[in-house]
Amino acid sequence: MKTVSPLVDLERGRIHAGVFFDPEIYRQEIERVFGRCWLLLCHESEIGEVGDYVTTYMGEDPVIVCRDSRGKVRAYLNFCRHRGSMVCRAERGRTKSFTCGYHMWTYSIDGELVGVPFEDKAYPEGLDRRELALIEVPRVASYKGFIFGCWDERAEALERYLGDFRWYFDILVERALGGWEVVPGVQKCVIECNWKLHSENFAGDMYHVLLTHGFARRPGLDPFAYFGDKLSAYIELPAYVTTFPEGHSMIDILHHGEYYHLDREVAKTLGPEGEEYVEACYRRLREVLSPKQADVYGLGPGLIFPNTAFLDFGCLFPLGIYTFHPKGPEKHEYWARHLVDRAAPAAVKEMLRKNFIWGQSVGGMFTPDDTDGFSRLQEAIRGTVGRKQWLDYHMGLAREGQVPEEERDYPGDVGPRPSERGQRNFYRRWRELLNRSHPEEEGHGGEGRPAGGRTVPL
Ligand code: FES
Ligand SMILES: [Fe+2]
Repeated sequence: MKTVSPLVDLERGRIHAGVFFDPEIYRQEIERVFGRCWLLLCHESEIGEVGDYVTTYMGEDPVIVCRDSRGKVRAYLNFCRHRGSMVCRAERGRTKSFTCGYHMWTYSIDGELVGVPFEDKAYPEGLDRRELALIEVPRVASYKGFIFGCWDERAEALERYLGDFRWYFDILVERALGGWEVVPGVQKCVIECNWKLHSENFAGDMYHVLLTHGFARRPGLDPFAYFGDKLSAYIELPAYVTTFPEGHSMIDILHHGEYYHLDREVAKTLGPEGEEYVEACYRRLREVLSPKQADVYGLGPGLIFPNTAFLDFGCLFPLGIYTFHPKGPEKHEYWARHLVDRAAPAAVKEMLRKNFIWGQSVGGMFTPDDTDGFSRLQEAIRGTVGRKQWLDYHMGLAREGQVPEEERDYPGDVGPRPSERGQRNFYRRWRELLNRSHPEEEGHGGEGRPAGGRTVPL
């Protein structure tokens, strides 16, 4: 096993280019990061009824997340126990069973092997169907409707994994008056770069926002229309980069109602219905959570370690949840989900849907700017000379701790913006996981097990 410590120099704020293309490091991170961390699988609204399923990935492992015959959410390796072909090729649907396309073995939504063609002739000596159930993801849990899975049976509970970040996540979750639902159609695209370049962008890169995305202004488009004439004031707002030991971070957090006031401005363009909706969301936060949480109101951009990002500026900005699935050292898939409040007025839903497509979808105003930058970075660092270089992440190191005393009195480690402390926190956690060996290193941290065993109650 390779030690990655010499490649992560947090004291000077440098990361070595090697972490983005070395195949051995990639294999280690698939085992030790994706094999151990809780990973977002889907939202409960995507699998509301018995037999509903979505397919996704945990690291490079394809999985099926489904509601079983008793209504329980379970996840299985999408892997036929005959010779390993995928048993489900669709992205989502409702079914009573999954049939492998190779020799047509069939599995129930409870993971049991229920059909083997010509079984009497092919296996006259008998077949132990119980031994051949789908391999189940051993840990599946929901945090207020967001369903996560983990391959490591001994991993800490999801609540502990989320840690103090939950104080903020609750704001996002509770602000929806009727609960969140995913707008059907997860957008997906392949990006030619290491998955960490996308994760670290959401973990800490506030710096690029007005620069990379500002290019759209040249042909006369305004990707920051949401902020209206408040944009210059917004940049000056006292925002912070808040990090958590588990590797999560938020890169643009505002404590004193600033996102709420932006929403109130935007609501004026929607008329009384929009204005009342914003007030109702704010009132709900004050009722269900604390006044302090209500005044945070939106989380801005951020990352749930290792590969789930969010953009949440309030109830009139389209909520986006993004996952980055590794596909080799120099490639990943980018999945974009848009969620809406079930109880939002129709006019608000429509505005958010259009804004999501226009702004944050895979072909929108923002994403291609980012992903082009990441791909060009990947191209530059794979050369003979480029691969020996250090990349700079030292912004804000000298300003660490320079936060007013009263602003530190929030969960997490509140630090100055702009800075690259979110990225440094990401690589600190990444290094910690890669350096920690596991007694059962081969295969996954937890091997999964045939279906039928216990799962974490939802
Ligand atoms: S690989 Fe699935 S039935 Fe043969
Ligand atoms: Fe961006």
